Amino acid sequence: MPILLQLAVWVFALLLASTNAAEPYKLMPPPLDTPWTDKVGTNPWPQYPRPQLRRDGWKSLNGIWTYQAATDPDDTAVKPTLPLRQEVLIPSCIESGISGIMTTGVTHMWFGTNFTVPEASSQGDRVMLNFEAVDYEATVYVNGAEAGFHRGGYSRFSFDVTQHLKPYGDNELLVFVFDPTDDQSIPQGKQSKRPHHIFYTPCSGIWQTVWLEHVPENSITKLDVAAGMDGKVDVTVHGSKNESTPVEISVHDLDGGVLHTQQAMSNEPFTFTVQSPKLWSPDSPTLYNITVKMGSDEVSSYTGFRTVSTGMVNGTLRQLLNGEFVFWFGPLDQGYWPDGLHLPPTLEAMVSDLELIKDLGMNLVRKHIKIEPDLFYEACDRLGLMVMQDMPSMRVYPERRPTDDEQVEWERQLDIMVEEHKSYPSIVSWVIYNEGWGQITDYHPEFAITERVRRMDPTRLINANSGWRDHGAGDFSDNHHYADPQCGAPYYSLPSSPYDPNRIGFQGEFGGLGSRPADENLWPIETALRTINETYEMHATPDSFHYRARTLLRLLREQVEMYGCSGAIYTQTSDVEAEVNGLVTYDRRVVRINAAQWQEDIKALYDAAKARV
Ligand SMILES: *[C@@H]1O[C@H](CO)[C@@H](O)[C@H](O)[C@H]1NC(C)=O
Ligand SMILES: *[C@@H]1O[C@H](CO)[C@@H](O)[C@H](O)[C@H]1NC(C)=O
Ligand SMILES: *[C@@H]1O[C@H](CO)[C@@H](O)[C@H](O)[C@H]1NC(C)=O
Ligand SMILES: *[C@@H]1O[C@H](CO)[C@@H](O)[C@H](O)[C@H]1NC(C)=O
Ligand SMILES: *[C@@H]1O[C@H](CO)[C@@H](O)[C@H](O)[C@H]1NC(C)=O
Repeated sequence: MPILLQLAVWVFALLLASTNAAEPYKLMPPPLDTPWTDKVGTNPWPQYPRPQLRRDGWKSLNGIWTYQAATDPDDTAVKPTLPLRQEVLIPSCIESGISGIMTTGVTHMWFGTNFTVPEASSQGDRVMLNFEAVDYEATVYVNGAEAGFHRGGYSRFSFDVTQHLKPYGDNELLVFVFDPTDDQSIPQGKQSKRPHHIFYTPCSGIWQTVWLEHVPENSITKLDVAAGMDGKVDVTVHGSKNESTPVEISVHDLDGGVLHTQQAMSNEPFTFTVQSPKLWSPDSPTLYNITVKMGSDEVSSYTGFRTVSTGMVNGTLRQLLNGEFVFWFGPLDQGYWPDGLHLPPTLEAMVSDLELIKDLGMNLVRKHIKIEPDLFYEACDRLGLMVMQDMPSMRVYPERRPTDDEQVEWERQLDIMVEEHKSYPSIVSWVIYNEGWGQITDYHPEFAITERVRRMDPTRLINANSGWRDHGAGDFSDNHHYADPQCGAPYYSLPSSPYDPNRIGFQGEFGGLGSRPADENLWPIETALRTINETYEMHATPDSFHYRARTLLRLLREQVEMYGCSGAIYTQTSDVEAEVNGLVTYDRRVVRINAAQWQEDIKALYDAAKARV
C-alpha cells in the first residue's frame, strides 16, 4: 500500500475510534447482483406498506440504522453500549449484501435508530410504531422502556408507543432480535443455516418496513372485506377499543363517485349488497376503492368482487372462479433474491417477476412456504394473478415429528397468516402442508386445521397437503412429480397418492428443468455449486431444454384433455442459489425459457380446459 494511502487509512481509523461512530453503511457486493441492486440507495421501500388499511399522515423509519451482534444472548433487557458498531440498511436481512452487514450465523442482535415524531394529524394523537415483519422474535424499546414483544418472522405488529415518547426532539428506538433459523423447528420455509440444493441462505432481522402513524384513541386496526360475484360484501371493521362504535363504509365507483354507503357498528360482522359489480378475474382484475370512517378515524382500502368455489363440470369436480371452471396455471414462486434474499431489492424488482409471469399468459402463482410484503398481494390484485398461498413450513426433521408446542405455535402463526391476508381478492387458496414438511402423521392434524381455516375464511379453497402425505383432507388431490406431470391422471408415483376424484385433481409441482447458466449469472457459493447437479433434470444445451419444456407442457395438456387435471404449478419462477431451474436466472438477467413457445403452449392448456366445459 502506498505510504500516503496507508496514512490516510490510519487517520480515518483514528477518527472513527475517537468519535466512537458506527462503521458507515456501505452496500456489500452480494455474491450475485440484480439490475436493481444499485437502485436500492439509502431510502429503501418508500411506498406506503399497508395497501388495505391506508391512512394519510405516516412516516417511514426505513433507512440507515445501527446494528451489532449481541454479546450476551440471554440478556434482552441490558441495553447495549451505544453507538452500535455498524450501520445497517433497514429493512433488510442481515445475511444480504443490501444490509451492508452480510453476515451469517448470528442469532441474537440489536438494531437501533433515533426518530422524531411528526405533528399529530387531525385523525388523532396516539402514535403507533408499526413493523411489517421481523424475523423471528423482536423486543422493542422506546427511550429505554419496553414497548412490546412479537414472535413470528412473517407477520406485522404494532405498538402504541405514545406514553414512551418525549414531547420534542429525538426518540431512541432499540430492537432486540432473536432468530434461531433452523436450530429450532419454527415457521421458516426454506431458510437454512446450512444452505444447499433446495435450502437457501436464511433471513434474520428487520426485513420489512418500519413506520409511524397517528391514530385516535379508538382506531380501526383491521378491515375484513370479502366481496362475492353476487355483489354481497361481508365486512368486519375491527376497532382498537373492545366496544361497538358506529362506522360508515363507502364503496367507490370506478370513476371515483360513491356506489354504496353503509352505516354499521365496529367489531361485529355486517353485510350489504352492491348492484351488478364488475367482477374481478385474471382477465379483468377490477378493483373497487373503499373508505371507512369511525369517529375521527378514516382509512381507505379496496376490494374485488369474486367467488371461488367448487362444482361438478361435465362429471369432474373443478375449482370455479365466478361460477366458471378456469384452469389454474402458474409457477412455484419462492421470492428469493441474490442481493436481498427474502426482501426484493425494490418494489419494481418484485413486480417485474409478476409481469414476466403475466406476460407468459399464466394466471396464478403458488407463493411457496414464504409470506411476502403486502405490496406483493396488492400487485397480484392489480395485475390479475391468482395466488395459492402456502404456510411457511417448520424444519424438516427426518428423525422426529414436531413437538406439541411447536405444532401449537405453527398453527397460531398459520391463523395469523389467514387473518392478515384474507381480504386480498387475488388469494384463492391456502396451502397448509408442503410435501409432509413438518407434518405430523401419527394423527392427521390437517383435518382439524382445514375445518378451522374454513371457518375463519369460507371464501377460499384449502389445499391441505400439496404433495406426498395426503390423507384425504381439503379440496385438492395434489400430486408432486418431477419432471413429468401426473395431474389428475390414473398413474402416480410414491410418496404421492392416486388421484381422488372426490377432490380437485391438481399438480402442485412439476417441471424443474434446469441448465447451468453462464458463471456471471450463477450464485457462486461453494456449497451451492456442489449441489447444482441435484437440480431435477439438467440440460446441457438450450435445444434439449426447450424440447423437454415443450414435452412437459404437452403432457400436461394431454392430462387436461383426458383426465381430471384442473391446474398445475411449474417449478419455478427464478433460479434460487443452487437450483438452476427458473424461467429466469437468479439475477433476473437471462430468461431461460423460449417465451414465445411457452405463450403458445400455455394458451393450449387453457383451450384444452375450456373444451372440457
Ligand atoms: C440516538 O442519538 C443519541 C444522541 O445523538 C446517540 O448518543 C445515540 O447513540 C443514538 N441512539 C441510537 C440507537 O442510534
Ligand atoms: C370484549 O368484549 C366481549 C363482549 O363484551 C367480551 O366477551 C370480551 O371478553 C372482551 N374482550 C376483551 C379483550 O376485553
Ligand atoms: C383507488 O385508490 C388508489 C389508492 O389511493 C388510487 O391510486 C386510485 O386512483 C383509486 N381509484 C379510483 C378509481 O378512484
Ligand atoms: C453431485 O456431485 C457430487 C460430487 O460433486 C456427488 O457426490 C453427488 O453424488 C452428485 N449428485 C448427483 C445427484 O448426481
Ligand atoms: C362431457 O363428458 C362426456 C362423458 O365423459 C364426454 O363424452 C363429452 O365429450 C364431455 N363434453 C365435453 C364438452 O368435454
